[in-house]
Amino acid sequence: MERTFVAIKPDGVQRKLVGEVIRRFEAKGFTLVGLKLINVSKELAEKHYEALNDKPFFGGLIEFITSGPVVAMVWEGDGVVASARKLIGATNPLASEPGTIRGDLAVNVGRNVIHGSDAVDTANREIGLWFAESELAAWTPTNMNWIHE
Ligand code: RTP
Ligand code: MG
Repeated sequence: MERTFVAIKPDGVQRKLVGEVIRRFEAKGFTLVGLKLINVSKELAEKHYEALNDKPFFGGLIEFITSGPVVAMVWEGDGVVASARKLIGATNPLASEPGTIRGDLAVNVGRNVIHGSDAVDTANREIGLWFAESELAAWTPTNMNWIHE
């Protein structure tokens, strides 16, 4: 089953949006298989955002992501990687559609509340970076037959 990595960034945690974000993923029909609140080390932050290390905003991004606790999650479901990106919305919250997390809850690209993996291979890499296999719970929700035919 497909899995993706989602993180509520320090702004989302500080603004008490954790429940709101989890509610949207649960209500959609995806399954939570990993969840933890952690202070991110500089090392993990730099590995996570490795592909952006030549961008002018990289330093500020690392400083921000390590500035307070982050809620790291793994969500499971058919097509969850692309669907999570849709639920999250465009990177710049002012360009995100209403109805998306960033479209409804944010106004600034550097404070856009949430991260979601951008492809299946990136998701697998990020899940491995943030979670040990023993921290992930494989389970089948009892309402599965009411979500899938
Ligand atoms: P994310 O990785 O956080 O899910 O966001 P994304 O795929 O939509 O965007 P990405 O290009 O991967 O950028 C990662 C994060 O860097 C910050 N950013 N700032 N100042 C800027 O122009 C700028 N561009 C990107 C954002 O917080 C973005 O989510
Ligand atoms: Mg990204």
